[in-house]
Amino acid sequence: MSKILVTGGTGFIGSHTVVELHNAGYEVILVDDFSNSSPKILNQINTITGMTPEFEELDLCDEAKVLAFVAAHPEIIGVIHFAAFKAVGESVQHPLKYYRNNFYSLLNLLKAFNSATNFVFSSSCTVYGQPDVLPVTESAPVKKAESPYGNTKQIAEEMLQEICAVSPELNVTSLRYFNPVGAHPSALIGELPIGVPQNLVPFITQSAIGKRGAITVYGNDYNTPDGSAVRDYIHVVDLAKAHVAAIKRLESKKAETNYEVFNLGTGTGTSVLQIIDAFEKSTGQKLDFTIGARREGDVEQVWGDVTKSERDLGWKAELDVNVMMSSAWNWEKYLKDNPF
Ligand code: WQD
Repeated sequence: MSKILVTGGTGFIGSHTVVELHNAGYEVILVDDFSNSSPKILNQINTITGMTPEFEELDLCDEAKVLAFVAAHPEIIGVIHFAAFKAVGESVQHPLKYYRNNFYSLLNLLKAFNSATNFVFSSSCTVYGQPDVLPVTESAPVKKAESPYGNTKQIAEEMLQEICAVSPELNVTSLRYFNPVGAHPSALIGELPIGVPQNLVPFITQSAIGKRGAITVYGNDYNTPDGSAVRDYIHVVDLAKAHVAAIKRLESKKAETNYEVFNLGTGTGTSVLQIIDAFEKSTGQKLDFTIGARREGDVEQVWGDVTKSERDLGWKAELDVNVMMSSAWNWEKYLKDNPF
């Protein structure tokens, strides 16, 4: 039976992708070091799908263990690689931790598979910085990274492209996520930020449930319709389905080249104040927020051109910002009664 390896499979996007892979008829084996997620997510996946995926606790920075794991699983026909550190602010404080973890894990996997597998890489719209033209397409220039986290994504994409150029048996798809938000409709899996959430939506839900104080809107003096910064928010379930589409495309060998890049967004820009409004309207929860200073390193506005993804992946985001907000809120309420 062909299997897909999902690294970081108990994380936010990883767990939702495991569910969608199951729904699409794939067998999954996942690895995680649980450094940024809980093993309890495995029980949640079982409750949602009726199966607990095969899994192993594995430090992907341990080359010998990665080689042994892959050698023991010749049935793996593809990899979706989520496992990486991803906190922008933390990466500025601890660059060595980020470069070591995010590169060792990737390089050990490529070595273990002898650069011969179908490989989906978790990348980010961060690589674009502040685009000159919006919506931003995959052919837009990559700009100087604003953080070591963003730099690990840029350098990883370059490494993968160069390795693919000399490895005809390695087929890679880099997926550039915009802003993943929301939670599974069951409210059994969702985002599990550690400590004070840095991202907007988990801070909103924690503020609404009383875990945090008022939200600070980081700047309302941007050159945008309402002055607050604009992003392309995408529901995590739509994002997960795009990973299934990417694996299917790799298996079909339809691509002309063995290295492709796709934007995963909705193609629509939404401001911070619009997100706050959508949350209040879709949940009935009033939010307490103040306007503060801009956040260092933030771009003013970015949203994706998703024409290529829709054409070549046969995928399109379907869930709107109201579903993103209501599902995030349902997950926060679940967490209150069922702390992880
Ligand atoms: C969104 C907007 C903030 C918190 C990050 C990563 C990116 C990707 C998605 C992984 C911004 C504003 C936020 C708050 C606020 N991650 N904000 N008050 O920074 O767009 O992207 O997550 O791939 O790589 O950089 O997401 O949710 O932090 O911020 O006003 O308390 O909300 O200024 O305009 P960001 P975010």
